[in-house]
Amino acid sequence: MARMTKRVRKAVFPVAGLGTRFLPATKAVPKEMLTVVDRPVIQHVVDEAKAAGIEHFIFVTGRNKAPIEDHFDSQYELERTLSERGKSEELAALMADLPRPGQTSFTRQQAPHGLGHAVWCAREIVGDEPFALLLPDMLHFGPRPCLCDMMEAYALHGGNHIAVAPVPADQTHLYGIVGVEDKTAKVSRVTGMVEKPKPADAPSNLHISGRYILQPDIFAILERGERGAGGEIQVTDAMKNLALSQPFFAVRFDGTIYDCGAKIGFLLANVAYGLARKELAPTLRCELARLLDT
Ligand code: G1P
Repeated sequence: MARMTKRVRKAVFPVAGLGTRFLPATKAVPKEMLTVVDRPVIQHVVDEAKAAGIEHFIFVTGRNKAPIEDHFDSQYELERTLSERGKSEELAALMADLPRPGQTSFTRQQAPHGLGHAVWCAREIVGDEPFALLLPDMLHFGPRPCLCDMMEAYALHGGNHIAVAPVPADQTHLYGIVGVEDKTAKVSRVTGMVEKPKPADAPSNLHISGRYILQPDIFAILERGERGAGGEIQVTDAMKNLALSQPFFAVRFDGTIYDCGAKIGFLLANVAYGLARKELAPTLRCELARLLDT
């Protein structure tokens, strides 16, 4: 049982998706590189993982995702130019974001068999230790990074953890939905999980919001390649199976979640993150008010 409280050092980021909902923007640019204000979506999510103490960042990529690798690498010419021009603030900001050598790994999901399959592709790099899983589409915006709350809950309870938040009943078919022992608690035991249920089959209104802490035993279950909703290998199904032998906890996220896989979520994220920047907020607020008035 010592495994249950092993430190979470690694995080997996599945970034192989095609981003068809954002065409033509995503024809030559990975959807994870679209920017929310001035940081790519994937950088926001890596920031969250860093804040929670993650030391190794594992990206499950696919064809045409090279810009993500380049983004997390040093850019010698740019760094030298900034330095020569005395742009020390810009250079310092760039260097602060740069992972240390050896802190990133990239592997490829060779075929689109679903999220569970993407996670399974990271098994060799994760190895036999618990890991965090962060879905880059879902930006968690709030006073405290979501994964920090989860790390705290994990330190207390061990086992497996899923971030959850309420969704309207007519949206349950878009997400994994969990049932919990106590809907009002910040951390509660999970009593059921269903991937993309109709409202009538949903065990609650709490959706899986794209942040997980999982024990490595999930890989043996994913290895079986069983297909679920949409004919894909689903993480939710593998978790349901793992829950037969290990505890699962839901950690409620109290901020706002922007689903940047959808246009409206992406647009709202840009407004919310823009309003949170003090150099942009006053003008943005005025301009938004003006637009809404006309
Ligand atoms: C995945 C998960 C689902 C979760 C969702 C969050 O679905 O399978 O359980 O609620 O991410 O975005 P996908 O968005 O890949 O269809």
